[in-house]
Amino acid sequence: MDLHAKYPALHDLRQRARRRIPHFVWEYLDSGTGSEATTARNRSKLDEVRLMPSILHGEITPDLSARLFGQTLPLPVGIAPLGMSGLIWPGAEQLLAGAAAQLGMPYALSTVATQTPSDLQGVVGEHAWFQMYPPRDPDIRADMLARARNAGFGTLVLTVDVPVASRRERQVRSGLTTPPKLTPRLLAQIARCPTWATGIARRGMPRMKLIDHYAGNLSGLSSTAHAGYLLRTAPDWEYLRWLRDAWDGPMIVKGVLDAGDVPRLEDEGIDAIWVSNHAGRQFDAAPATIEALPAIRAATSKPVILDGGIETGLDILRAIALGADYVMMGRPWHYALGALGAKGPAHLHDILSLDLRANMGQLGLSNLSEAPRRLISAPEVSPPAATPSRFTA
Ligand code: LAC
Repeated sequence: MDLHAKYPALHDLRQRARRRIPHFVWEYLDSGTGSEATTARNRSKLDEVRLMPSILHGEITPDLSARLFGQTLPLPVGIAPLGMSGLIWPGAEQLLAGAAAQLGMPYALSTVATQTPSDLQGVVGEHAWFQMYPPRDPDIRADMLARARNAGFGTLVLTVDVPVASRRERQVRSGLTTPPKLTPRLLAQIARCPTWATGIARRGMPRMKLIDHYAGNLSGLSSTAHAGYLLRTAPDWEYLRWLRDAWDGPMIVKGVLDAGDVPRLEDEGIDAIWVSNHAGRQFDAAPATIEALPAIRAATSKPVILDGGIETGLDILRAIALGADYVMMGRPWHYALGALGAKGPAHLHDILSLDLRANMGQLGLSNLSEAPRRLISAPEVSPPAATPSRFTA
């Protein structure tokens, strides 16, 4: 079957995934917080970024590669961490880590995934990132870092935009708990999705294995106050410093929106800034990531990574035109798995490459570093007048 004829865009994969993933799981994957204004804003502000096409530039062969941490990667996109990834599609972590290794993409494993770093040892490739939700207990912190490093995860990502649980009303309405409690309503949803159900039955009900390792089997928590919160603290600058000292590889801080935080992050020795609003899952009055990007780009010479609402090769190009070095996507890879199983990630990678190449052709770009020259209009927000973290200890 020609996948491109049937699924030419992410949109097509999403439609099919929606039918093949049980509703309560879909709601977990697809939802944001509140009225989902931030999720929508991520998308609508991307559409506002306009680039001037170029004429009479003759034939060009676009080079799609990007540089990050001193290495050249074939495409400026990677796989963002997603909690309970293996609930969304059976075996998701292995499938995504394997695809990323094959395609030369970064793969970020979440602390609250259904697989541990060691489960993915030998599956992950060169660009394996471990995303950390900050455990309170210093022994657990140190142990988590050691486990990640020993399993081949060379880059650490600290998530800083989840100081408290968000409400996630859509998830609550769906009846999802962690681990899922199989009520008749949920069982009826599962029965409509035989491929998903068979895969899950073969592997057992997904759990947050790394958290279980430290906390034992905990249940009965509501969907948003999942087991991860039992271990986790809201990190501060001191925590960041401890972590920086304890990790010898590249360290990324994920969830930065305020350019005023950037100088201090640099002082603390952070290697890259990840502009994120948790894809609209945490705070519904946050700026779109593409709006926050220009001020952050202006504030640092470190690599800047962006996620949030990216759907196409053109969106990747928009982010790069505004100064991002690299783009990450989370939900879309799971839509791809839901639609096509193991074949999904490579197909989505193909779609993104083709779209990026086609649009670079319109702009007359032979490489991505030329993209900012074609920028004509972009949404932008400036940091608040006083940024406390800059002035207080
Ligand atoms: C979420 C957490 C797990 O967004 O990061 O669901």
